[in-house]
Amino acid sequence: MKSNSKQTQSVPVLKRELLEITTLYEISKATNSSLDLEGVMEQVLEILHQKMAMERGTLCLLDEDNDEISIEVARGLSEQEIERGRYKPGEGITGRVVAAGEPIIVKNVGEEPLFLNRTRSRGDLKRTNVSFLCVPIKLDGKTIGALSVDRLFQQDISFEEDIRLLTIISSMVAQAVRIHQMVEKEKSRLEDENLRLKRELKKRFHPSNIVGESKRMQDVYDTIELVSKTKANVLLRGESGTGKELIAHAIHYHSDRAEKPFIKLSCAALPETLLESELFGYEKGAFTGAMTTKMGRFELAHGGTLFLDEIGDLPLSTQVKLLRVIQEREFERLGGTQTVRVDIRLITATNKDLEKEVREGRFREDLYYRLNVVSIFLPSLRERREDIPVLVNHFLKEACGENKKSVKYISDEAMEILMNYVWPGNVRELENAIERAVVLGKSETLTPDLFPIPQDGRGPGLTTFNPQTPAESLPGLLPEAVEVLEKRMIEAALLKTGGNQRRAAQLLGLTERMIGYKIKQYSLKTKG
Ligand SMILES: Nc1ncnc2c1ncn2[C@@H]1O[C@H](COP(=O)(O)OP(=O)(O)O)[C@@H](O)[C@H]1O
Ligand SMILES: [Mg+2]
Repeated sequence: MKSNSKQTQSVPVLKRELLEITTLYEISKATNSSLDLEGVMEQVLEILHQKMAMERGTLCLLDEDNDEISIEVARGLSEQEIERGRYKPGEGITGRVVAAGEPIIVKNVGEEPLFLNRTRSRGDLKRTNVSFLCVPIKLDGKTIGALSVDRLFQQDISFEEDIRLLTIISSMVAQAVRIHQMVEKEKSRLEDENLRLKRELKKRFHPSNIVGESKRMQDVYDTIELVSKTKANVLLRGESGTGKELIAHAIHYHSDRAEKPFIKLSCAALPETLLESELFGYEKGAFTGAMTTKMGRFELAHGGTLFLDEIGDLPLSTQVKLLRVIQEREFERLGGTQTVRVDIRLITATNKDLEKEVREGRFREDLYYRLNVVSIFLPSLRERREDIPVLVNHFLKEACGENKKSVKYISDEAMEILMNYVWPGNVRELENAIERAVVLGKSETLTPDLFPIPQDGRGPGLTTFNPQTPAESLPGLLPEAVEVLEKRMIEAALLKTGGNQRRAAQLLGLTERMIGYKIKQYSLKTKG
């Protein structure tokens, strides 16, 4: 038994005032102690119990949305009893207090028909001498709830004094409720805002032209989001056709450089001297044929982004020059003396194993670290097969638009072929396969015959995917596999362009000379 419960059994009149003051003091301490309304209210009810012997203290609040009064916090009531304690304004004692905004005293709950005892926490009411005191909680003149307590029926209790005390306490509680409501409102406002911003970011960093919801792609989007806010150099890694160029664009268009130029140069296609004049520009007369002064890609990209594709193919001598521009942000045009200063973000891409290139002395280590401030690894398509259906849909729509066709469906069998294929050319290959099928298809459904898997006498094991087969034990040699793919891609490109070699070369990123050579090598049919 607690010592202070004895102290309050019979309250000597002189002690009452002191007790009230300490009670109010304790309660004011409690209401100021935290923003957690429930915690505060539990303390308040506990103090009323300890100091004033008030039992079953209950705080009810009116929910304006459904016009229902429910118990927020209660002392001495079980969860179930609390759950049962729901009233409409005007209903029962608590409901009347809330409706009228006036306190009510029920001297003996056993004799009061209005007393609903809805929580059923008081056993057989007839046998207990319980009084029930209930005061409204008012905020800005409006009743927002009620505070009630039970008192054991005793001679020396002055209900008027109790009501006065409870009324003071209820005004303190009202302030706590006000603060709580303000905090809740602010919290839900911030939550809404947070949600809205997150949605916006999602939209922003999931541009409609990048398709794929796989975990691997989500990670890529997250990195794009982070990196686009910075000026850091980005190195994009991944097999050919995985979307490196697409991602380079996305980074640029989501950065604060979006309004400035995005300039691209592929380091693979050009011989060394041409590459340097493309990068740094030249002065008139720098070499034979330099009739005018020409700006290089670095200058053209000033204020924006320079994307150097196939960086792994950059010759060593050019690597030195690139390193200097990155470090000093300045350079001279070929044949020039004047120093040009530039502000660019550099994005590079490669499908090569750059670390191996560094180890074997083909790529400068210092340049490697300069370029590789942030790297983004793009997964191959076979590592994110779950994205194949959305990609198929995306390319189907695109191909239909471009070719004025209306293919709407793809048969389950055809989809299965696409799901199981290894896709050495990744998304680019899938894109081409769909476009080819759309062009050749005669109905509104794509059927398996539109997706011939290259077999070339080596059996389907070469290019179809069997998860049980380790890559090393796939039949066929890599050069042969590459040849099959090359031939198929060139065929598809020629098909797409009606046999136009120049356009087919453009589609594939080849020079006209190269495609001419390959066409002869594979004895492919062309227009001319
Ligand atoms: N996630 C993707 N969503 C939609 N299209 C993609 C995606 N990834 C690649 N593509 C498309 O595939 C083709 C090849 O992409 P690209 O960025 O050129 O690859 P890479 O530079 O890695 O060789 C492009 O037509 C590109 O639009
Ligand atoms: Mg590329």
